[in-house]
Amino acid sequence: MLERSELADNALQALHDEDYDVPFNTQSLNHDGLIFMGGRVSESLNGEWTFCVDLLDTGLRQKWFAMLPEAPEDRTEPWDYDPYMGDTVPVPSNWAMLKEKWYFFEGSTWYTRPLDVDEIAETKRTFLRFGAAAYDCKIFLNGEFVGNHYGASTPFCVELTGKLKPGRNWIMACVNNTRTRDRVPMRNTDWFNYGGLYREVSVFQTPKSLIKDFFLYLVPDGTYSKLCAEVTIDGPLIEEAVELNIPSLGIDIAVLLDETGKARIEFAAAPDLWCPETPVLYDVTVTYGEDQVSDRVGFRQIERRGTDIVLNGEPLFLRGISVHEDDAVLGKVTSEADLHRRFDHARELGCNYLRLAHYPHHELAAQLADELGFLLWEEIPVYWAIDFENPATYRDAENQLCELIKRDRNRASVVIWSVGNENPDTDARLEFMKGLADTAKRLDPTRLTSAACLVNHAQNRIEDRLAAHIDVIGLNEYYGWYEEDFEDLAAIGENSDPDRPVVISETGADGVIGEKGPTKGLFSEDYMAEVYTKQIATLRQLAYVKGMSPWILYDFRVERRQNIFQNGYNHKGLIAADKKTKKKAFHILADYYRQIAAGQGNTRKAS
Ligand code: GCU
Repeated sequence: MLERSELADNALQALHDEDYDVPFNTQSLNHDGLIFMGGRVSESLNGEWTFCVDLLDTGLRQKWFAMLPEAPEDRTEPWDYDPYMGDTVPVPSNWAMLKEKWYFFEGSTWYTRPLDVDEIAETKRTFLRFGAAAYDCKIFLNGEFVGNHYGASTPFCVELTGKLKPGRNWIMACVNNTRTRDRVPMRNTDWFNYGGLYREVSVFQTPKSLIKDFFLYLVPDGTYSKLCAEVTIDGPLIEEAVELNIPSLGIDIAVLLDETGKARIEFAAAPDLWCPETPVLYDVTVTYGEDQVSDRVGFRQIERRGTDIVLNGEPLFLRGISVHEDDAVLGKVTSEADLHRRFDHARELGCNYLRLAHYPHHELAAQLADELGFLLWEEIPVYWAIDFENPATYRDAENQLCELIKRDRNRASVVIWSVGNENPDTDARLEFMKGLADTAKRLDPTRLTSAACLVNHAQNRIEDRLAAHIDVIGLNEYYGWYEEDFEDLAAIGENSDPDRPVVISETGADGVIGEKGPTKGLFSEDYMAEVYTKQIATLRQLAYVKGMSPWILYDFRVERRQNIFQNGYNHKGLIAADKKTKKKAFHILADYYRQIAAGQGNTRKAS
């Protein structure tokens, strides 16, 4: 904390310092930190936090984070914000959904809450964990800057060990959601820019030596007979091995660590295989000294063979739907009930697969998909015209990818890592996204990579240089909506000869239901239904199409859609924003998926 006089002096100097934010952009909270949670017991810090918007970054300039708690009548210097009193907001939440005047707010905001500590346990380490914070989150403890994180949808931890004091501590988070050219995503997206601490915040302790990372998978060699475990220890190496237990498989083995605290072991096992129809999960524990983590892991093999996507040796068709994290009331906050509703609707649609667009969704989504039996495409928001020439942008994108993979790579349901969506075909973009695809493979050799790629509309052919560097070609096509001529879609089918699977990662049309929508023509429910009928009739002819995730399950909020029918929403949802009212196209797609599930789907077999 700073004395009043120091704050007063600084307030004057701060008027002439436009580099005030540089010391707080270390991006020191990243995937090198603790990402894997492994069922650790934690104390929730959800609930009311003091909150204030700070459009001009006055808080960083005037060092509000360094103010001492003090009653107004005791203050001898005028002040512009008091972190310890004023408005409060519930965490998790998006401020846009809390007050009309905050709806379009973009900039810095301040969240403050106390953290009371009974005693400082010398043998323990203490971490603060944020499920996500949109977008730049600077953390302060008792007036000291302890790091910042970039990225709106991935978890991060900040270690408080040695910085906490007995009794009352103060945590402050300066959360900034400003859209900029060099962020990921950049300043133009087709989804609402929700800011805030919108996922859970918690605090937990570990022993000095902790299990930092744990990855357990079926060795993808087609024998279904070996598992591989990769473990990383952080802290003093007090023992030479970690203990790995999978009771249902009779596995109880010691895994030797190398001198850096890492271990990798392959061992024989014959698990029942996970798949959507039989989502078998195994309880696993890893023990190292005093530390123990656990997980529930499914074992399966996903691969591509030519233009087929193959799960456990069987080719399959991905009957999917795309989803955003968006709620008319909650904004980007996800609840377990919201997720169960999403999966219930997907099941009703006949899905075995969902595309979690365009950013990492809440970690509970993949955990539930593991339990319920859905396959997932997970994605980082390398969306549209990212600043592909900028190394800092690449560092941000790669960090978000690594945080997503380290968070979810024990989730059997996740089968595809997507490194982007609809990006311009430039050399810089190719290098940027190839680098991301290579990073994904390096961190996780067991899954497929993809991206929503490009079409050469002049030649009516699937053509994207990135395709050679990913396993599955994602194809966003909107014939019947943005592109007029359906015959061109059929032509693409004839003119393209991909050597790997194609998944229609998006297709669809807006349809505004009820009296708010037109009775015919664009934006009418009937026109949307007609587009689905024509799309299905055409797509079912394309033998190399091995899945689809039409855009999108629910109508969703977005600033850039303001015509008389949109009113700040994208209405391509098969279900309206109430997440109840189904449109005609829902039933058309459900009928097609029923046919596919019954084996009549594509009328043209692969040649
Ligand atoms: C694009 C984009 C989506 C967008 C959709 C649309 O393909 O990937 O994010 O919402 O089209 O225009 O509705």
